[in-house]
Amino acid sequence: MISNPKVVFFDGIAEKWDGWEDLPALERKLAAGLDELDVRADETVLDVGCGTGNLTRALLAKLSPEGRVLAIDISSRMIEVARRKVADPRVSWHSEDARRLSFGAGTCDRIICYSVWPHFEERRAVAIELGRVLRPGGSLHVWHLIPRQRINEIHAGASEAISRDMLPPVEETAEMLASVGFRIATASESAGGYLVTAVKPER
Ligand SMILES: C[S@@+](CC[C@H](N)C(=O)[O-])C[C@H]1O[C@@H](n2cnc3c(N)ncnc32)[C@H](O)[C@@H]1O
Repeated sequence: MISNPKVVFFDGIAEKWDGWEDLPALERKLAAGLDELDVRADETVLDVGCGTGNLTRALLAKLSPEGRVLAIDISSRMIEVARRKVADPRVSWHSEDARRLSFGAGTCDRIICYSVWPHFEERRAVAIELGRVLRPGGSLHVWHLIPRQRINEIHAGASEAISRDMLPPVEETAEMLASVGFRIATASESAGGYLVTAVKPER
Protein backbone atom coordinates (compact mmCIF):
# COMPACT_ATOMS: atom_id res chain seq x y z
CA MET A 1 0.00 0.00 0.00
CA ILE A 2 1.33 3.50 -0.88
CA SER A 3 1.48 5.74 2.22
CA ASN A 4 0.28 9.34 2.09
CA PRO A 5 3.35 11.60 2.70
CA LYS A 6 1.24 14.10 4.67
CA VAL A 7 -0.01 11.39 7.02
CA VAL A 8 3.57 10.20 7.52
CA PHE A 9 4.70 13.79 8.15
CA PHE A 10 1.96 14.67 10.66
CA ASP A 11 2.24 11.28 12.40
CA GLY A 12 5.97 12.00 12.78
CA ILE A 13 5.49 15.38 14.50
CA ALA A 14 2.46 14.51 16.66
CA GLU A 15 4.39 14.00 19.90
CA LYS A 16 6.40 17.23 19.36
CA TRP A 17 3.57 19.55 18.24
CA ASP A 18 2.49 20.91 21.63
CA GLY A 19 6.10 21.58 22.59
CA TRP A 20 6.26 24.09 19.70
CA GLU A 21 3.18 26.00 20.92
CA ASP A 22 2.83 28.47 23.80
CA LEU A 23 -0.24 26.57 25.03
CA PRO A 24 -1.55 29.07 27.64
CA ALA A 25 -1.31 31.93 25.09
CA LEU A 26 -2.95 29.79 22.40
CA GLU A 27 -5.75 28.84 24.78
CA ARG A 28 -6.49 32.53 25.47
CA LYS A 29 -6.47 33.41 21.76
CA LEU A 30 -8.70 30.50 20.83
CA ALA A 31 -11.17 31.36 23.61
CA ALA A 32 -11.34 35.00 22.48
CA GLY A 33 -11.70 33.94 18.84
CA LEU A 34 -14.52 31.51 19.62
CA ASP A 35 -16.37 34.32 21.44
CA GLU A 36 -16.15 36.38 18.25
CA LEU A 37 -17.42 33.47 16.16
CA ASP A 38 -20.41 33.41 18.53
CA VAL A 39 -20.38 29.66 19.18
CA ARG A 40 -23.63 28.67 20.96
CA ALA A 41 -23.50 26.30 23.94
CA ASP A 42 -25.57 23.48 22.47
CA GLU A 43 -23.96 23.26 19.04
CA THR A 44 -22.42 20.24 17.33
CA VAL A 45 -19.10 21.54 15.99
CA LEU A 46 -16.80 19.74 13.56
CA ASP A 47 -13.09 20.41 14.27
CA VAL A 48 -11.35 19.59 10.98
CA GLY A 49 -7.66 18.67 11.29
CA CYS A 50 -7.96 18.66 15.08
CA GLY A 51 -4.29 17.76 15.58
CA THR A 52 -3.48 17.41 19.28
CA GLY A 53 -6.91 18.73 20.30
CA ASN A 54 -6.19 22.34 21.28
CA LEU A 55 -9.20 23.82 19.47
CA THR A 56 -11.39 20.91 20.63
CA ARG A 57 -10.47 21.70 24.23
CA ALA A 58 -11.24 25.41 23.74
CA LEU A 59 -14.60 24.48 22.17
CA LEU A 60 -15.52 22.17 25.05
CA ALA A 61 -14.97 25.08 27.46
CA LYS A 62 -17.72 27.01 25.59
CA LEU A 63 -20.21 24.16 25.19
CA SER A 64 -22.94 22.99 27.57
CA PRO A 65 -23.53 19.29 28.39
CA GLU A 66 -25.70 19.18 25.22
CA GLY A 67 -22.93 20.48 22.95
CA ARG A 68 -20.75 18.09 20.94
CA VAL A 69 -17.39 18.20 19.14
CA LEU A 70 -16.67 15.86 16.24
CA ALA A 71 -12.89 15.96 15.91
CA ILE A 72 -11.28 14.56 12.76
CA ASP A 73 -7.72 14.21 11.52
CA ILE A 74 -5.88 12.16 8.88
CA SER A 75 -3.11 11.48 11.40
CA SER A 76 -3.99 8.75 13.88
CA ARG A 77 -0.92 9.71 15.94
CA MET A 78 -2.25 13.27 16.34
CA ILE A 79 -5.55 11.80 17.51
CA GLU A 80 -3.75 9.54 20.00
CA VAL A 81 -2.09 12.61 21.57
CA ALA A 82 -5.40 14.50 21.58
CA ARG A 83 -7.26 11.62 23.24
CA ARG A 84 -4.67 11.40 26.03
CA LYS A 85 -5.02 15.14 26.67
CA VAL A 86 -8.75 15.72 26.27
CA ALA A 87 -11.00 13.20 28.00
CA ASP A 88 -14.58 14.39 27.70
CA PRO A 89 -17.72 12.44 26.74
CA ARG A 90 -18.88 15.32 24.52
CA VAL A 91 -16.08 14.73 21.99
CA SER A 92 -15.73 11.91 19.49
CA TRP A 93 -12.43 11.37 17.64
CA HIS A 94 -12.33 10.18 14.04
CA SER A 95 -9.29 9.27 12.02
CA GLU A 96 -10.49 10.37 8.58
CA ASP A 97 -9.85 12.69 5.66
CA ALA A 98 -11.88 15.89 5.28
CA ARG A 99 -12.32 14.90 1.62
CA ARG A 100 -14.58 11.97 2.57
CA LEU A 101 -16.39 12.15 5.91
CA SER A 102 -18.36 9.41 7.62
CA PHE A 103 -21.05 11.80 8.94
CA GLY A 104 -24.55 12.12 7.56
CA ALA A 105 -25.87 15.16 5.68
CA GLY A 106 -26.58 18.18 7.90
CA THR A 107 -24.95 16.64 11.03
CA CYS A 108 -23.01 19.76 12.09
CA ASP A 109 -24.16 23.22 13.21
CA ARG A 110 -20.70 24.65 12.61
CA ILE A 111 -17.43 23.58 11.03
CA ILE A 112 -14.04 25.03 11.95
CA CYS A 113 -10.97 24.48 9.79
CA TYR A 114 -8.37 25.89 12.16
CA SER A 115 -4.78 25.86 10.84
CA VAL A 116 -5.50 23.16 8.27
CA TRP A 117 -6.80 24.75 5.04
CA PRO A 118 -3.40 24.99 3.25
CA HIS A 119 -2.90 21.24 3.67
CA PHE A 120 -5.95 20.13 1.66
CA GLU A 121 -5.00 18.68 -1.74
CA GLU A 122 -8.44 19.20 -3.28
CA ARG A 123 -9.93 22.25 -1.58
CA ARG A 124 -12.99 22.48 -3.78
CA ALA A 125 -13.89 18.83 -3.16
CA VAL A 126 -13.31 19.33 0.59
CA ALA A 127 -15.55 22.43 0.56
CA ILE A 128 -18.34 20.43 -1.12
CA GLU A 129 -17.98 17.62 1.43
CA LEU A 130 -18.02 20.10 4.33
CA GLY A 131 -21.13 21.70 2.80
CA ARG A 132 -22.79 18.29 2.77
CA VAL A 133 -22.30 17.64 6.51
CA LEU A 134 -23.20 21.22 7.52
CA ARG A 135 -26.85 21.98 8.31
CA PRO A 136 -28.61 24.70 6.29
CA GLY A 137 -27.92 28.02 8.05
CA GLY A 138 -24.71 26.63 9.63
CA SER A 139 -21.29 28.29 9.32
CA LEU A 140 -17.93 27.12 8.01
CA HIS A 141 -14.86 29.01 9.24
CA VAL A 142 -11.42 28.90 7.65
CA TRP A 143 -9.32 30.29 10.48
CA HIS A 144 -5.68 31.02 11.32
CA LEU A 145 -4.19 33.04 14.17
CA ILE A 146 -0.99 33.98 12.36
CA PRO A 147 -0.71 35.99 9.13
CA ARG A 148 -0.88 34.26 5.76
CA GLN A 149 2.61 35.37 4.67
CA ARG A 150 4.15 33.83 7.79
CA ILE A 151 2.25 30.56 7.37
CA ASN A 152 3.40 30.30 3.77
CA GLU A 153 7.02 31.05 4.72
CA ILE A 154 6.94 28.33 7.39
CA HIS A 155 5.53 25.77 4.96
CA ALA A 156 7.94 26.73 2.17
CA GLY A 157 10.87 25.99 4.50
CA ALA A 158 9.41 22.78 5.90
CA SER A 159 9.47 19.14 4.79
CA GLU A 160 8.67 18.38 1.17
CA ALA A 161 5.41 16.79 2.34
CA ILE A 162 3.97 20.27 3.09
CA SER A 163 6.34 22.70 1.34
CA ARG A 164 3.80 23.46 -1.39
CA ASP A 165 0.83 23.87 1.00
CA MET A 166 0.12 27.55 0.48
CA LEU A 167 -2.76 29.51 2.04
CA PRO A 168 -4.42 31.63 -0.68
CA PRO A 169 -5.55 35.25 -0.12
CA VAL A 170 -8.94 35.47 1.64
CA GLU A 171 -10.59 36.74 -1.56
CA GLU A 172 -9.59 33.55 -3.39
CA THR A 173 -10.85 31.28 -0.59
CA ALA A 174 -14.11 33.26 -0.39
CA GLU A 175 -14.61 33.10 -4.16
CA MET A 176 -14.10 29.34 -4.23
CA LEU A 177 -16.51 28.79 -1.31
CA ALA A 178 -19.11 31.02 -3.01
CA SER A 179 -18.69 29.00 -6.23
CA VAL A 180 -19.79 25.82 -4.40
CA GLY A 181 -22.88 27.48 -2.90
CA PHE A 182 -21.85 29.20 0.33
CA ARG A 183 -22.78 32.80 1.21
CA ILE A 184 -19.70 34.69 2.41
CA ALA A 185 -20.24 36.51 5.73
CA THR A 186 -16.61 37.48 6.51
CA ALA A 187 -13.34 37.48 4.59
CA SER A 188 -10.54 39.27 6.40
CA GLU A 189 -6.83 38.91 6.95
CA SER A 190 -4.36 40.99 8.94
CA ALA A 191 -1.28 40.67 11.12
CA GLY A 192 -3.62 39.03 13.67
CA GLY A 193 -4.67 36.20 11.40
CA TYR A 194 -7.06 35.02 8.70
CA LEU A 195 -10.79 34.35 8.77
CA VAL A 196 -13.29 33.40 6.11
CA THR A 197 -16.79 32.64 7.40
CA ALA A 198 -19.10 31.02 4.87
CA VAL A 199 -22.76 30.23 5.57
CA LYS A 200 -24.72 27.39 3.99
CA PRO A 201 -27.94 28.96 2.68
CA GLU A 202 -31.25 27.80 4.22
CA ARG A 203 -33.11 26.76 1.04
C1 LIG B 1 -0.85 22.32 11.09
S1 LIG B 1 -1.64 21.00 11.89
C2 LIG B 1 -2.80 21.87 12.94
C3 LIG B 1 -3.49 21.02 13.95
C4 LIG B 1 -4.52 21.76 14.81
N1 LIG B 1 -5.61 22.28 14.00
C5 LIG B 1 -3.85 22.85 15.59
O1 LIG B 1 -3.83 23.99 15.11
O2 LIG B 1 -3.28 22.58 16.65
C6 LIG B 1 -2.71 20.40 10.58
C7 LIG B 1 -3.48 19.16 10.96
O3 LIG B 1 -4.39 18.86 9.90
C8 LIG B 1 -4.38 17.48 9.63
N2 LIG B 1 -4.79 17.28 8.22
C9 LIG B 1 -4.09 17.60 7.10
N3 LIG B 1 -4.80 17.29 6.00
C10 LIG B 1 -5.97 16.77 6.44
C11 LIG B 1 -7.10 16.24 5.78
N4 LIG B 1 -7.17 16.17 4.43
N5 LIG B 1 -8.14 15.79 6.52
C12 LIG B 1 -8.07 15.83 7.88
N6 LIG B 1 -7.01 16.30 8.56
C13 LIG B 1 -5.97 16.77 7.85
C14 LIG B 1 -2.94 17.07 9.93
O4 LIG B 1 -2.81 15.69 10.17
C15 LIG B 1 -2.61 17.92 11.14
O5 LIG B 1 -2.93 17.30 12.35
